[in-house]
Amino acid sequence: MAVMLLKPAKAAADAWLARFAAAAPGLEIRVWPDLGDEGEIDYAFIWDPPPGLLARLPRLKGVFSLGAGADHLFRDPDLPRDLPLTRVVDPSMTARVTEHGLTLILHLHRNMAAYGAAQRRGEWAPEPQPRAQDRPVGILGLGVLGGDLARHCAALGFPVAGWSRSAKRLDGVEGFHGTEGLAPFLARTEILVCLLPLTPETNGIMDAALFAGLPKGAMMVNLGRGAHLVTEDLIAALDAGHLAHASLDVFDPEPLPAASPLWAHPKVTITPHVAGITDPDAVVAQVIENIRRIEAGEPVLYPVDRNLGY
Ligand code: NDP
Ligand code: OXD
Repeated sequence: MAVMLLKPAKAAADAWLARFAAAAPGLEIRVWPDLGDEGEIDYAFIWDPPPGLLARLPRLKGVFSLGAGADHLFRDPDLPRDLPLTRVVDPSMTARVTEHGLTLILHLHRNMAAYGAAQRRGEWAPEPQPRAQDRPVGILGLGVLGGDLARHCAALGFPVAGWSRSAKRLDGVEGFHGTEGLAPFLARTEILVCLLPLTPETNGIMDAALFAGLPKGAMMVNLGRGAHLVTEDLIAALDAGHLAHASLDVFDPEPLPAASPLWAHPKVTITPHVAGITDPDAVVAQVIENIRRIEAGEPVLYPVDRNLGY
């Protein structure tokens, strides 16, 4: 019987335990921090492990990120090097991130923040209605999540471009890639969305230089990670009127501290890291399948490339 350590992020451990008990009754789950005998743990399905924890488990055969991102694993300098490492890829998470992305993009496109302010003033104040086809959307990261959001934006009539590390072809989406592709991508983008993984290359990517490459009046949405954004540079670009609005779902640190100037900024919309949740109903099956594959010596589903960091 295999033993798996569970350290959940958002859903309570109970929800996971019930699903694993039903789908894999032979799998013993230990919920962090009650590890029991550390020498018995075969797998870790984990969010944000304390540094050094995984290196302490002598029998560990695989590490499964409890989210789509794996940056929380790489924060551990002692992350075991030679074990399979996987992340969540799940159509229900993709659909939720796309819903949240579309909600925030349409909120910006139709200037809903102005209606909220007008309502609080008791004022009837119609805003201009630009056509979707005149509002270029640009998505940083054209992977599982960015690619799906790009397709849905294109279906709504927005001219859509995406930026990735390697060249990508997606129907209806203009592709830019690499360092040399960033400037022309930014120059044509009026609503910028970040769905990059957090890696040493993308840390702090949304800074003053990047904002300067966007047209005046551009808006931005961050669904990636808080550390993609240099908050002081964002506030300076908003206050100078170069950027018109920022809608942020992710922060560094989380929860966003009460003292952050972002909370009260009139040009900032905040959601509390809710774009996509890891849904126990959908994800238990892929964890069980990856345990089966590791036991059978087969390649795992949804591996994380340690060299690329995502
Ligand atoms: P993928 O790995 O499928 O896609 C990542 C994309 O980013 C790829 O297109 C990749 O390029 C591109 N990329 C990576 N590094 C660079 C770089 N240096 N320069 C240019 N492009 C780069 O990831 P997902 O789409 O599944 O997830 C993306 C991120 O979304 C997660 O890592 C997580 O941080 C965030 N997320 C946020 C959630 C929320 O609730 N807010 C929920 C879930 C995820 P290439 O295609 O060439 O490899
Ligand atoms: C994830 C997230 O990476 O929730 O899954 O951010």
